[in-house]
Amino acid sequence: MSPKIIVGNWKMNGTKEKVHEIAHALTTYSNRLSHEEIQNKTQIVICPPFTLLPLLAECLKETPCLLGAQNCHEKLSGAHTGDISAAMLLEFGVSHVILGHSERRQNHGELDSIIRQKVTTATQAGLTPIVCIGETREQHEEETYTDVLGWQMEGSLPNDFSGILAYEPIWAIGTGLTASPEQITETMCFLREELIRQFGKSGKTIPILYGGSVTADNVSTILSIPEVAGVLVGGQSLNADTFLHIIEYQCL
Ligand code: PGA
Repeated sequence: MSPKIIVGNWKMNGTKEKVHEIAHALTTYSNRLSHEEIQNKTQIVICPPFTLLPLLAECLKETPCLLGAQNCHEKLSGAHTGDISAAMLLEFGVSHVILGHSERRQNHGELDSIIRQKVTTATQAGLTPIVCIGETREQHEEETYTDVLGWQMEGSLPNDFSGILAYEPIWAIGTGLTASPEQITETMCFLREELIRQFGKSGKTIPILYGGSVTADNVSTILSIPEVAGVLVGGQSLNADTFLHIIEYQCL
């Protein structure tokens, strides 16, 4: 069985103190098990705000945890005040970047076409993109939400996509509402079919994560769904104890 991917998305939260708290918990965890044991079980990626990346990189360097960012620009450099490029992230040891999160789509008007360019640039620079898609509550209730997901995938994923896809129903993000195991299974199967339709054979192996109110209580149910390759955790990744429980989901 491939290791489950656990991604912590801190969003615009966290301080230096938080970095030390989470890094301490992860270092204690990784001292208990060998790196090989951890890597066989999970791939842990922590995505703090940009300003905390160097400190977190330093604090996690003795652990097998990977570093992720929450966004990058679609161009490699240039006159883009306030933006961060994929090359800048690489310099700090970042390996993954979340792209197309619904909060960026909604708050920054990021369209599928821009996300697609970001995915291409990030991949060419050597980062693994984690591309988020998801439907609103209204779209979910219309039951044609799979059309929405299909369009988002067609629009946001470049032809040679080889990153990670994250299904995050917008109605489940930060609401305490989680999609049921049946809903997750059904949607994951649809997404897999769509990936195979878009990418052929390589679509069979693209990992698909679930995100939206993942907690220490529901993580083992979610990760026991065979189609789920891992989880994208927001709020609960900021609490060291809870996040450790999520990582150690198999022990609960
Ligand atoms: P949540 O956020 O776990 O707080 O619902 C998930 C996300 O937005 O990635």
